Amino acid sequence: MTKPYDPAEDGAQMSFDGRMSYGDYLSLDMLLNAQKTWTNTHDEMLFIIQHQTSELWMRLAIHELTAARQHLLGGKAHQAFKMLARVARIFEQLNSAWDVLRTMTPSDYTAFRDELGQSSGFQSHQYRQIEFMLGNRNKAMLRPHSHRPDTLALLEAELAQPSLYDVALKALAQKFPLPDAVLNRDVSEAYVPHEAVQAAWTEVYRDTETHWELYELAEKLVDFEDYFRRWRFNHVTTVERVIGFKRGTGGTGGVSYLKRMLEVELFPELWHLRTEL
Ligand code: HEM
Repeated sequence: MTKPYDPAEDGAQMSFDGRMSYGDYLSLDMLLNAQKTWTNTHDEMLFIIQHQTSELWMRLAIHELTAARQHLLGGKAHQAFKMLARVARIFEQLNSAWDVLRTMTPSDYTAFRDELGQSSGFQSHQYRQIEFMLGNRNKAMLRPHSHRPDTLALLEAELAQPSLYDVALKALAQKFPLPDAVLNRDVSEAYVPHEAVQAAWTEVYRDTETHWELYELAEKLVDFEDYFRRWRFNHVTTVERVIGFKRGTGGTGGVSYLKRMLEVELFPELWHLRTEL
């Protein structure tokens, strides 16, 4: 009989008393103890893990977007491009994840939905931070966080600084004069599209050779928004499939609210200019 394979003979580490292991490095005790279910229903674990993994990917998206904005501000466009490409891939990952959640039927979900109380992804502060970072700013969205001063402070701090799109417009302004109303706007408010911005981006697309870096920036932003739109669409479709037209646990009209959010344009002029080319 052949001797059973022993990885230790190949040099595999087998002893971790007082030494860093995989679980230590990744804080797995903490991570894998965080799936607290509130019912004995089978699908609640899927629902929790789907949300938690989404929050983890959002955490990374915030990390990347923070660095991308910083690089863009510092004139290091190429470093920013690399990060923006990664954020688009993160959203691709989040988009694929809906396929797992879609296996949960209305009957499966109804079995534990009441236990959610009024909790909802609507209160995801990381999601709101991502929207604020990109430029979709609405102070009304701060209110669900007023019971958590630390979270509120984080979101308010985000609103106090220029969004990724504001920073992109600063880069655009280095080549094309843009009005004061755009460059020195109150960045805590929602961005209002401006025809001078659209005219400038249109020039970039008409002469890509001359404006290659801005062109690449614009396409990175559009690419990312494309994935983000798919996320919103996948979400609303899954929601309709699972709860129909019931109101959301967070109190909105549910599908009607989410359909309205499909109209959000993060980088409006970059979409509108396409009609002009
Ligand atoms: C069966 C699964 C799901 C259902 C039925 C559902 C339902 C809803 C509904 C109805 C809303 C509108 C707010 C409300 O009134 O509650 C909402 C918002 C939201 N959900 Fe979900 N959701 C599901 C899965 C997910 C997952 C996996 C995530 C990932 C984190 C997520 C993240 C969000 C976010 C971020 C919002 C706010 C969107 C915005 O304000 O534009 N949802 N969800």
